[in-house]
Amino acid sequence: MIRIAVIGCGYWGPNLVRNFNELDDVEISAVSDLKPDRLQLIKKKFPNIDVTVDHNAILDNPYIDAIAIATPVETHFPLASEALKNGKSVFIEKPLTSSVTEAEELINLAERYNKTLMVGHTFIYTGAVRKIKEIIEKGEIGNIYYFDSVRVNLGLFRPRVNVIWDLAPHDVSIMDYLLGANPEYVSAVGVSHFGTGIENIAYITINYPDNLLAHIHVNWLAPVKLRKVLISGSKKMIVYDDTEPDEKVKIYDKGIILNGSPDKIYDRMVGYRIGDMYSPKIDSAEALRRECSHFIDCIDNNKIPITDGYAGLRVVRILQAAQLSIENKNERVELKCTEKSLTMSKSERDVRSLISSTSTVVA
Ligand SMILES: NC(=O)c1ccc[n+]([C@@H]2O[C@H](COP(=O)([O-])OP(=O)(O)OC[C@H]3O[C@@H](n4cnc5c(N)ncnc54)[C@H](O)[C@@H]3O)[C@@H](O)[C@H]2O)c1
Repeated sequence: MIRIAVIGCGYWGPNLVRNFNELDDVEISAVSDLKPDRLQLIKKKFPNIDVTVDHNAILDNPYIDAIAIATPVETHFPLASEALKNGKSVFIEKPLTSSVTEAEELINLAERYNKTLMVGHTFIYTGAVRKIKEIIEKGEIGNIYYFDSVRVNLGLFRPRVNVIWDLAPHDVSIMDYLLGANPEYVSAVGVSHFGTGIENIAYITINYPDNLLAHIHVNWLAPVKLRKVLISGSKKMIVYDDTEPDEKVKIYDKGIILNGSPDKIYDRMVGYRIGDMYSPKIDSAEALRRECSHFIDCIDNNKIPITDGYAGLRVVRILQAAQLSIENKNERVELKCTEKSLTMSKSERDVRSLISSTSTVVA
């Protein structure tokens, strides 16, 4: 039996409470929020769960094994670091932290105290994204040329974080998971239209080696809701439309064929390959249920989460670079690859740290 507490019960926290509550072998020991009215709501739905406005009562409680944090991003680090130091495993909603330094420190703490650290990159647990990953790994798409994502709607204007820190963690985490590569540069433009200094629209470009290009468009001020990702490869192309009730993922057998000699570029003829399209069957189970259950499984069986602290760090690194680029008028920001931020498995990481004790690989 894992005893878990949830801190933060605004918009998203109640979804965590519901999902953890429905899992076998999990007991929700307490829920905390600074606002009593949010706690009343929880008490009404789950009368057996203890509620408190004091998160310290949770963090200091030796009876609690794990904490799930669904508070604003600037509070993630202080709450999570305290929880880890008190010997608790931690699940943190996206984005992991508000800076690379904080993310690295949480990874260090989790490793030092041998506790599970997981970030809520919910889309990684959707049937659609998992199916796309499977298709890419089978080699069906070929070499990937670009990843292009749009996430816009008439969204909630957040008072403390801009649209990048609010919406782009979803796209960046999907991109990181699907491409499995280490980006080199980030540039971004963003604008605050209402004098708040908090950007409500942004375009982020991410450059990977070998001409792999990624682009993310996030916007709180659009008349319609678009949630679309295009992935183009040397063999096929994918369209993932999360607003589609069915057929969220479509695979197109489309592309171009270049005829003629490569050294006479102007003589080359472009032929178009237009083949079939199919939409694979997608598992429609709730992603958040799968995510919560994965966290518990990782604690129970000492497994590394799919979205571990390193995955959280890789996302925060891109968000921070995008923010820096906006502040410096779209300047290209080079991503210095540290050992922690590279995409690699736990075993690869262990081998690397054995081979070299130097922790910084400067890209
Ligand atoms: N995975 C997803 O799809 C998804 C969706 C929405 C939000 N989120 C993430 O969830 C987190 C919360 O977002 P939200 O939209 O619910 O925000 P919100 O502002 O609606 O709720 C946050 C709540 O945290 C409470 N809080 C703040 N500090 C606290 C503390 N020290 N102790 C106890 N409670 C505290 C606030 O009172 C508030 O009720 C953010 O990190 C956000 O990015 C994830």
